[in-house]
Amino acid sequence: MATLVFATNNPNKIREIRAQLGEQYDFRSLADIGCFEEIPETTPTLKGNALQKARHVFDGYGHDCFSEDTGLEVEALAGAPGVITAHYAGPERDAQANMDKVLAELGDASNRKAQFRTVICLIEQGTTHFFEGICPGQITLEKTGDSGFGYDPIFIPEGAARTFAEMSGSEKLQYSHRARAMAKLIAYLQKH
Ligand code: IMP
Repeated sequence: MATLVFATNNPNKIREIRAQLGEQYDFRSLADIGCFEEIPETTPTLKGNALQKARHVFDGYGHDCFSEDTGLEVEALAGAPGVITAHYAGPERDAQANMDKVLAELGDASNRKAQFRTVICLIEQGTTHFFEGICPGQITLEKTGDSGFGYDPIFIPEGAARTFAEMSGSEKLQYSHRARAMAKLIAYLQKH
């Protein structure tokens, strides 16, 4: 069974990805490999940040690994918050404040199109591969629902009538940007 480190300690992401990975991989988090330092995410792109995190683990710990970076891209805000999605409203990374800022900036704009975009970087025996997952949708007028995390209460994925925060974990997986990027990663791993 292949060992793979997922360069995160976010329990929400670990739960989502474990649900997808099943029993096929010996799957480890950063804590599992004793990596407790803050990994820098200082590039101007999702792809650059994903590479930076994966390289940190591969170079520092010698494990094959993958990392991901996700951004919410709102069309009427010229793609913001984008790469600064996690700290859009300030360094506290407060989900409520971040959502309030998106809602305030959008006001009552009729174009509420947005997408979540995840970029995964896999480093396998020193070689780098990228996988992207996109979930198109709409920003709501107000927060609705209390499941999930981050911007879930203000995002309705295309094809659904409810926000991510009104869905069960398994329902969210049918639409999730991260799940889509992960499906591409898993398809790659199964082929090689
Ligand atoms: P990161 O890639 O974990 O740094 O996530 C960047 C930002 O996107 C954070 O503010 C997360 O809360 C948010 N985010 C990532 N994935 C999701 C999601 O599935 N739903 C809602 N917000 C998300």
